[in-house]
Formats: sequence, structure tokens, C-alpha cells
Amino acid sequence: MTTSGKLFGVGMGPGDAGYVTLRARAVVLEAGVVAHFAKKGRRGHARTIADAAIGTGRREMALVYPVTTEIAVADPGYGAAITSFYDEAAEAIARELAAGTDVAVLCEGDPFFYGSFMHLWRRLRGRFAVEVVPGVTGMSGCWSRAGVPITWGDDVLTVLPATLAKEDLVRRLGTTDAAVIMKLGRNLPKVRAALIEAGLIERAVFVERGTMDGEIVCPLAEKADDEAPYFAMVLVPGEGRRL
Ligand SMILES: C[S@@+](CC[C@H](N)C(=O)[O-])C[C@H]1O[C@@H](n2cnc3c(N)ncnc32)[C@H](O)[C@@H]1O
Repeated sequence: MTTSGKLFGVGMGPGDAGYVTLRARAVVLEAGVVAHFAKKGRRGHARTIADAAIGTGRREMALVYPVTTEIAVADPGYGAAITSFYDEAAEAIARELAAGTDVAVLCEGDPFFYGSFMHLWRRLRGRFAVEVVPGVTGMSGCWSRAGVPITWGDDVLTVLPATLAKEDLVRRLGTTDAAVIMKLGRNLPKVRAALIEAGLIERAVFVERGTMDGEIVCPLAEKADDEAPYFAMVLVPGEGRRL
């Protein structure tokens, strides 16, 4: 009888290959199949980070999203397309695992922090052995590169998706000491307006492609345009106890 393979969710860190952990590198080098998420016609960020660790001649499985930003998340068409994508991706991986092959799913940052991997994990964890290899998160890479300590003393940190409504952003910004606002992209004008309303614009730092090629760091108040890619975030550092 064949022993099933193991599923790995491998955190590849925020971009710089120097932040790939020893465990992540070892798993990627040893797995029979290396899987990665990608947009149509594009290479996934996690796969790019893996270039330095992956070696050559590996068996790879690209998991290509059927939709990304073309359809709104609230549209029923989005839910249906993305659910069947995850079902099919999980089954393709399950076939490899059932045949005894270990599968490493590359994840940008940490697999359990807003990660697509979680949707595969949910579908496969009862059926196969799973190991999650933690990674340096995008926000950790960004505040390190920006030179912005994020929480001091008893500061409370709130992580906010920029996709929230402006009034929700303002409300939550009003009850926290420090914030990280993720998933920026086209939401930057709304985020800027929310920070102004919450009285926090002067403290906000914009980071684009933190630790990756083309990294940009600047105070948000000094950023002249509202252009931001998907791999961008705003940091609002806490001002808690300094000893
Ligand atoms: C779906 S979440 C994935 C988070 C990832 N699993 C992590 O641990 O950071 C994607 C969002 O993370 C943020 N992000 C992740 N890595 C980043 C980086 N290197 N530079 C800027 N933003 C990043 C962006 O806000 C992006 O929209």
C-alpha cells in the first residue's frame, strides 16, 4: 500500500530571498511537487521568491486563479468561480498526495495570514498530513524596511484590509494605537481619506513592494498620487511607552 504524501504550506517571506527560512528552503528542495498560486499570464510572487531556493528540473503545479480583480468579491459570480477553483486545486493536489508525493504550496509571507493556502488547508487537512511552515509576514518586512517600530509598550495593533468601507476604517482607526492597512491597490484614495478623518495622516507610512525589487517607502502625506499596486500597505506606528 502506498503511504500518502504530506501537504506543506510554505511561508516564503515578503520578497527578499534572504528572508526565506531554513525550514522553508529544505521543504521546497525536498518536495516532489512544488505548487504555487498565480494570476492568469503572470508568475506568482511566492514562486519568484523561490527562484533562489528551488533549484532546477522540479515538478511544478501552477494554480491559476480564474478571476482576481475583474469581478467584485460581492458578485455571486466571484464566489462560484473561486470556490470551484479551490475545489479543483485541492483535488489536483490530493491526487499527488494519494500517490505518495509530498506537495509544497508556496505562500507569500506567512501561509496562515490572509493566505490562499488556507482554502486548500481547509479542504485537505482531514485527509492528509499537513505541515505549515511559518514565514516572515509582508507587514513585518515592510515595517523593518521602513525603519518604523510598530508597537511600543501596551500599544494595540489593528490589521485592516483596505477593502473595508471608509466609515469602518475611520471607526477602527479611532480605537487602536497602531495599524497596518493591507490590500491597498485601488483603495488608496479611500484609505487616505479615512486617515485624514481619523487624524492620523501625518503618522502614516506608505510601503510598496517591501523587501522586493522596486521597493518604495515614503510618508503617505508626501505621496503626490493615489497609485498603489496590490503589494502595498500603509503603516501607522504606535506611540506607546518609550523607556
Ligand atoms: C492576501 S494578503 C497576503 C499576506 C501574506 N500572506 C503575508 O503574510 O503578508 C496580500 C497583501 O499583503 C500585503 N503585502 C504582503 N507582502 C507585501 C510586501 N512585500 N510589500 C507590501 N505589501 C505586502 C499587501 O497589502 C497585499 O495586498
